[in-house]
Amino acid sequence: MNKIDLNGRCAVVTGGAQGFGRAIVERFAASGAKVAIWDHDQALAEKTAKEIGSAVTALKVDVTDPSAVETSRDATLKAFGKIDILVNNAGIAGVNKTVWETDLEEWRKVLRINLDGPFICCKAIVPAMLKQNYGRIVNIASIAGKEGNPNAAHYSASKAGLIALTKSLGKELAQQNIMVNAVTPAAAKTAIFDQLTQQHIDFMLSKIPKGRFVLVEEVAAMVAWLSSEDCAFSTGAVFDISGGRATY
Ligand SMILES: NC(=O)c1ccc[n+]([C@@H]2O[C@H](COP(=O)([O-])OP(=O)(O)OC[C@H]3O[C@@H](n4cnc5c(N)ncnc54)[C@H](O)[C@@H]3O)[C@@H](O)[C@H]2O)c1
Repeated sequence: MNKIDLNGRCAVVTGGAQGFGRAIVERFAASGAKVAIWDHDQALAEKTAKEIGSAVTALKVDVTDPSAVETSRDATLKAFGKIDILVNNAGIAGVNKTVWETDLEEWRKVLRINLDGPFICCKAIVPAMLKQNYGRIVNIASIAGKEGNPNAAHYSASKAGLIALTKSLGKELAQQNIMVNAVTPAAAKTAIFDQLTQQHIDFMLSKIPKGRFVLVEEVAAMVAWLSSEDCAFSTGAVFDISGGRATY
């Protein structure tokens, strides 16, 4: 593991109880940061925080609820004194259906968590970053947001929206020392697979030239660099980690 210096940094990782989020929390803690896991699965978030160590705390937060996010922001600021890093990672896959089979509420649920959630968290935390003129925001999008996966239009649209949110916010903050970037991973074997059909999982694997799923630690390594001071000129950008699938 390369050493990334996050000593003295304070981070929020949404959906940090498991999967990519947990790997990111582990990598941040190993790099010297204090981390607050914001996850709506309180029991799992607390278990994860305890397993990783005393630098990590857990808060029950539904990222779609603005007042819960503001309360958690205030609690995190009180506990840490500042928030340097925000990783918008909480997300769901939704059901695998064609557009015409998808209920409006199924569509809206995915958009609410995957796109409204990051907007609500950015809106709550950016003012604190502006005050200290320092921040690193990393949005966990997906290769689906660039390509549009069949039978996952809500998911693909939510991640395409998150990429555009990243680009807009990155430009708004470009004059400050606040970088906003997105990563677009290929599929990884996490609990999110429980929401998908085997046919869809096989489809995603078949699209990866490397012939395997990305490891959560590989995504965490990229996120750690994007969350560090070394990332000082890249902003509003999209970082590929798709095993060769992405063509742009
Ligand atoms: N695993 C993949 O194949 C893959 C690929 C590309 C991108 N992603 C993205 O990476 C992110 C993490 O995915 P994962 O595979 O680790 O998923 P996961 O299901 O393992 O973990 C997601 C976490 O988010 C939390 N969460 C869900 N809704 C929430 C809400 N409303 N408020 C707060 N917390 C909430 C869950 O409790 C869970 O702990 C997601 O945004 C996902 O879309 C995943």
